[in-house]
Amino acid sequence: MSALQTQVVIIGGGPSGLLLSQLLHRKGISSIVLERQTRSHVMGRIRAGVLEHGFVNLMREAGCGRRMDREGEVHAGFCIAHQGQLNRIDLASRTGGETVMVYGQTEVTRDLYQARDAMGGVVIHTAQNVQLHALNDARPFVTWELDGNAQRAECDFIVGADGFHGVSRKSIPADVLKEYEKIYPFGWLGVLSETAPVSDELIYARHERGFALCSLRSPVLSRYYIQVPSTDQAKDWSDKAFWVELKRRLPADVAAALQTGPSIEKSIAPLRSFVAEPMRYGNLFLAGDAAHIVPPTGAKGLNLAASDIHYLYHGLLEYYVKGSCAGLDAYSEKALARVWKAERFSWWMTNLLHSSPDGSETDLRLQSAELDYLFSSDAAQASMAENYVGLPY
Ligand code: APR
Ligand code: PHB
Repeated sequence: MSALQTQVVIIGGGPSGLLLSQLLHRKGISSIVLERQTRSHVMGRIRAGVLEHGFVNLMREAGCGRRMDREGEVHAGFCIAHQGQLNRIDLASRTGGETVMVYGQTEVTRDLYQARDAMGGVVIHTAQNVQLHALNDARPFVTWELDGNAQRAECDFIVGADGFHGVSRKSIPADVLKEYEKIYPFGWLGVLSETAPVSDELIYARHERGFALCSLRSPVLSRYYIQVPSTDQAKDWSDKAFWVELKRRLPADVAAALQTGPSIEKSIAPLRSFVAEPMRYGNLFLAGDAAHIVPPTGAKGLNLAASDIHYLYHGLLEYYVKGSCAGLDAYSEKALARVWKAERFSWWMTNLLHSSPDGSETDLRLQSAELDYLFSSDAAQASMAENYVGLPY
C-alpha cells in the first residue's frame, strides 16, 4: 500500500478540523482531513449559534467570512428573565463596544466546506477505522479504511479534531491523560421552528419549573430550549407539550407574543463539563470537542474550539515558517488556560439559571442572591459581559 504524504493529518471534518485545514492551506501548509461521516450527516447537525468576535475574526482570516458578515446578526446584548421580569445585559456598553454574532454552526460548517472545495482541499469522508500510529516519532502516520480498502497517510503532525467520541484522545496512553468531568442531572430539549423569533435578542429564563432559552437563527427561524430531566427522550415530547412548557417558563408578555409552529428538528442534549489534559502527546495535538466539552449555557463550545485552532495554527506557522517549536510547545498550556476559564463561565451560568433536582432550599436562596447581585451590580454585569463576548486569545 502506498502512503499519502502531507504535513498535517487532521482527524475530524467538523468546524475545528475544517477551519484549521483552511487556515493552513492559505499559508501553503498541506493537510488531509479524515471524516468518519458523510458530508450531509455533518451538515445536518444543529448546534449553537452565537459567535464570539475572536471566532468571527478567524473565519474572516480563513477567507470564509463573507456570508457570515452579510447574513449573521450582530447582537449587543441579551436578556435574563426572572420572576416575570426581563433584565438586559448590555454587552456593548459593559465591554467597551464588544458584541457577538448570531450565525448558526450549520452555516459556519457549510461556509467552511465551500471554501475547502474552492481551494481543492482534501477532505476524505466515510473514513472508517481511523488509527493513529508512531505518535512519538518524527513521521507519525494514520491508517483508515475507505470502501473496504486499507489507506495510510504519513505526516509531521496529527491534529485530533474528532469531537468527544473520536479516536484521537483515546490514542493517548491512560497514564499520560487526566480527564476531569462533571455530568449535570438534566438536559436541554431543543426545538427548531420556522417561526419569527419572539425577541430580537436572546432570552435566558430562570424559572422554578426549569431553565428556558429563546434563541434564533434568522428572522424566520427560531431555536428554543427547555431544561428537562436527563432521563427524558425527545420522542416523548409532542410539539404541543413543548410549547406549553416553554410558555410557562417565560414572562407573561413574552409568552403571549410567542409564535408557535411545527418543529423541524427536536432533540435532547445532555449537559457536561469535561476537560482532558494535556492537549498534546508527542506529535498529536487535540483541539475542540476532542479535548473539552462545556454545557451549552453561554454557547462556548464552538468558540473554545476556535481559540484552540488559533493557538495551534500559529504554533504550526511558527514551526513551518520560522523553524521554531516554541508555539507548539506552549500550545497545551496556553489553550488549557483559556479552556478552564470558559469551563468556569459555562458552569457558573448553568448553575445560575437551572433548577437542580437535588438542590436544597439553601441552594435556591443562594441562586436567588446570585441573580439579585447580578441585576444590581455594574461590576457583576461587566464580568458576565466580558466572558460572554469571549475572553482574549
Ligand atoms: N474518525 C474520523 N472522524 C471522526 C471520528 C473518527 N474516529 N470520530 C469522530 N469524527 C468526526 C465526527 O463525525 C465529527 O464530524 O469528527 C468531527 C468532530 O466534529 P465536532 O464534534 O463538531 O467537534 P469540533 O469540530 O471540535 O467542533 C466544536 O463546538 O459547539 C460545539 O459541540 C459543538 O460541534 C461543536 C464543537
Ligand atoms: C442556540 O442558539 O442554539 C444557543 C444560543 C445560546 C446558547 C446556547 C445555544 O447559550
